Formats: sequence, structure tokens, C-alpha cells
Amino acid sequence: MEKFIYKVFYSAAGGNMDRNLALDFVRATEAAAISSAFWVGKGNEKQADHAAVEAMRKAFSVIDMDGTIVIGEGERDEAPMLYIGEKVGSGRGMKLDIAVDPLEGTTITARGDPNAMSVFAAAPHGGLLNAPDTYMDKISVGQECIGAVDLDASVEENLHAVAKRLDKPIDEVTAIILDRDRHREIIEKIRKCGCRIRLIRDGDIAGALAPAIEDSGIDILFGIGGAPEGVIAAVALKCLGGEIQGRLKFRNEEEKARAKKMGITDLNKKLTMTDMVRSNEAMFAATGVTDGTILKGVSFLSHGAKTHSIVMRAKTKTVRFVEARHSFEHFPDY
Ligand code: FBP
Repeated sequence: MEKFIYKVFYSAAGGNMDRNLALDFVRATEAAAISSAFWVGKGNEKQADHAAVEAMRKAFSVIDMDGTIVIGEGERDEAPMLYIGEKVGSGRGMKLDIAVDPLEGTTITARGDPNAMSVFAAAPHGGLLNAPDTYMDKISVGQECIGAVDLDASVEENLHAVAKRLDKPIDEVTAIILDRDRHREIIEKIRKCGCRIRLIRDGDIAGALAPAIEDSGIDILFGIGGAPEGVIAAVALKCLGGEIQGRLKFRNEEEKARAKKMGITDLNKKLTMTDMVRSNEAMFAATGVTDGTILKGVSFLSHGAKTHSIVMRAKTKTVRFVEARHSFEHFPDY
């Protein structure tokens, strides 16, 4: 106990990245989640995304940081806000690399399906892989299975390794995977092993984190999703305890050229957590938009809203779940 108290005071005094920034980052994901939640089920992906982006950007403007978007809404010429290279924050404070997905799950939100959330990750400058907007082949597991799986091993080998580490029969192992035609073969293999599957329509950040969340009922993520989402998930898993490995999957030569321009030299490299997140100072925050595996979505109250968020720091591995009531009378317009 004494040791714990000592550590709490010690970490309050030391550290490079101000731990109080965590609350500011949650404010940004909360604002984005509430703004996009107005669009749940209304069939308008663009508006839902725009609302999230605008709210998050406004929230950033009052945060004391010298931030640069390294993963965001796209290149400068295709995204007016939160584009790669955009400076965010007041300009005072620490130089940070920022990765955002103001609305992870635009289609989910437009349909009113589960698992949409607003997501943020940050690390000191140079701490995050500047992932190009392409695909990534991914595998992720929770704490107990760190070191047990390998992106280059077969689906069968990975499933048996997870069953062994978790000390449960193979038919109790549950995999999560995006429901896409490109995953037909993997899905077949998982089924042949006798494992359970949760197919998701979208949202593989939540999917990648699920194996590291107690009671999610998920043991492993397989499959190809967005590369930026892979890096953001890596930050979260570094905080939560878990592992993700990935390999970029390019659709064309243009994407390869863009990756090289962003500083990636070995396009075929198996990316480890350390390749994706180079700093122990990383932070992650997310707020649910619709109900999901990790977080409840936004609910509207009389003249206000309730949000559910998670905020975590890699350095201390503190995981906080934040439930907040917001009064629209006092909701900041930043
Ligand atoms: P959006 O938020 O951009 O809609 O992304 C949702 C998502 O499902 C991600 O979670 C995932 O990484 C990616 O799309 C998969 O891409 P695709 O839909 O092209 O298979």
C-alpha cells in the first residue's frame, strides 16, 4: 500500500507528458461523440462525420499543446479539417503527434448500428507510426496471450496458441473479424477449428481492443482493416496490455508511393507494437457514439446528454472509465 501511495505521488511529480491532458483529450472525444450522435440512424454518413470532426477540432483549440495531426481525416487537399500535418492546440506546451478518428464507424452511425465511437491517441513528437491511408492485415490479443500469436503463423496455429494460453477448449475461443468478402477464407478456417466467431460490420478499432477488455467475450482479432485504425488500436493496447501485429496492404502503386513519402521504407515489414507506437508516454481516449463492446453510446437527456468514455496512459497503464452528464445550457462552444 505504501509503495502504491509513493508511486502515485512520484508519477504526479515526474513524467514528460502532462497526465492532466488526459481529461482535455476526453473532452474532445466527448464533444465529437455528442455532435455525431445527433446523426445516429439518419442515413447521413457525411454529416455525422463532419459534426464529429468539427467538434473535435474546436475542442483541440483550447488544449495547451503543440500538436500535429499525423493520422487524421486524410491529406490536406482532401480534408479541410484535422488533415495530416495540421497544427492543433494552443501552440503552448508539449510537441505532440496526434492520431484521431473523430467518428470511427460512419456507416454504423448512419445506420444506428452498434460500436461507433470517437477516438483519439497522442504521443510525444515522433512517437507514432505515420500510417498511410491504406489497409493493414492485423492480429490482436489480450494481455494473457502476448507473445503467443504471430501474424505469419496460420490461423489454426494462432487459435490453438490462444486456447492454450487461456487454458480453455478450442471451441470456447471466440474470434472477431470484419464481415468482408476478403475474409471468407479466414472465416472458413476459424469455423473448421470449431471456434466461435463474432462478425462485425465495421469498427475494427473496437474489435482490436476487445480481446484486451475483461468480459468482452472476445479472444482474438483477425483480418484486414484500415492502417490508421491499426496504429490507433496499438496505442490503446499499449495502455490496456495486449498485443497487435500488422502488415500494410496496398491497393495500388499510388498508395505505396504515399507510404514511402511518409517515411516508410520497408513496405512489407511485419509491424510490431513498438514499430507502431515508439513511446511509453502515449495516451488514448475514446467516447462511445452508439452502444458497443467497450463503451455505451451517447444518450440524450432532457436538455443534455450522457457519455461513456475510456481514457488511458501507457506509462502507468491506468485505465479510467468516465461517465459524464453534460448540460446543453453550459455545453462549451469552445
Ligand atoms: P470509417 O469510420 O471510416 O467508416 O471506418 C470504419 C471501418 O470499419 C474501420 O473500422 C475499418 O478499419 C475499415 O472501415 C475497414 O475498411 P473497409 O470498409 O474498406 O473494409
